Amino acid sequence: MTNVDGCERISEQAYELNGDAPGELAAQCDGNGVSFVHISTDYIFDGTERKPYTESAEPNPIQVYGKSKLAGEQAVAEKLTDPLVARLSFVWGIHRGTGDLTGFPAWVCRQLRSGDAVPLFTDQWVTPTRAGQAAETLLDLIEQDATGCFHVACSACISPYEFGELIAESVNADQDLLSEGSMEDVNRDATRPAYSCLDVEHVESTLGRSQPTVREDVEAVREAFR
Ligand SMILES: NC(=O)c1ccc[n+]([C@@H]2O[C@H](COP(=O)([O-])OP(=O)(O)OC[C@H]3O[C@@H](n4cnc5c(N)ncnc54)[C@H](OP(=O)(O)O)[C@@H]3O)[C@@H](O)[C@H]2O)c1
Repeated sequence: MTNVDGCERISEQAYELNGDAPGELAAQCDGNGVSFVHISTDYIFDGTERKPYTESAEPNPIQVYGKSKLAGEQAVAEKLTDPLVARLSFVWGIHRGTGDLTGFPAWVCRQLRSGDAVPLFTDQWVTPTRAGQAAETLLDLIEQDATGCFHVACSACISPYEFGELIAESVNADQDLLSEGSMEDVNRDATRPAYSCLDVEHVESTLGRSQPTVREDVEAVREAFR
C-alpha cells in the first residue's frame, strides 16, 4: 500500500532541495561575485518526442523529480539576469576519489563480472552524459562567459541496451549475458520519460567543437573499464 504521508514528505523535500535551494545558492553566489551554474536534467521533458529535445522545447515533467528540477531552473532565473543552466542526461563517470566507475556502466560491469544476466531496456532512449566531460564543458562555457541554457551530453541517442552492448564489448564480457527488457517489466514508484535524448547542437556551436559519441566517452576513461 502506498504510504501517502511518506510520499508527500519526499515530495516536499524534493522541492526544497531541487526547487528552492538553487535560487538561494544563485543569489548568494551573485552577491559574492562567484560564478554559478545550475545543473538540471532531461527529466524536465515528458518523453513523448522522438527527436532530440532542443533547449527551446517545452518542458512538461511527468514526475516529482522532474517537476522539482524545473522549479529549480525557474528559481535560478528569478534570482539571476543571465543564468547559466546545463541539462544533463543519464549521468555516469569516474569517482574522483576512488577512480571507480559510477552510474549505469558500474552496475552493468558488476553484473557482467559476476556472470549475472543483465536485463536492459530497449524501449528507453537517452543521451548519456559523462560527468568528467560535462565538467570540462561547463568550465569552457564559463571561460567564454556563456549564459543561457545548454544541453550537455554525448551526441548519441541510444537505449540502455545499446549502451550495455558497448560496455560489454569494452570489458570483453560475454554479450549473451545481456537480455532485452522493457520499461514496462519494472514496477517503479516514479514514471520515467521513455525518450529524453538531448540535442547538443547549441553547446557544440557555442564552443566550436563536437560533443563526443558515447564510444568516445567510454574510450576517454578506458582504464576504469578494465
Ligand atoms: N544521475 C543522472 O542520471 C542525472 C541526469 C540528469 C541530471 N542530473 C543532475 O546531476 C546532478 C548530480 O546528480 P547525480 O545523480 O550524479 O548525484 P549523485 O549520484 O548523488 O552524485 C553526486 C556527486 O557529487 C558529489 N558530492 C556531493 N556533495 C558534494 C560536496 N559537498 N562536495 C563535493 N562533491 C560532492 C558526490 O560525491 P560522493 O560520491 O563522494 O558522495 C557524488 O559524486 C543533480 O543536479 C541531478 O539533478 C543527474
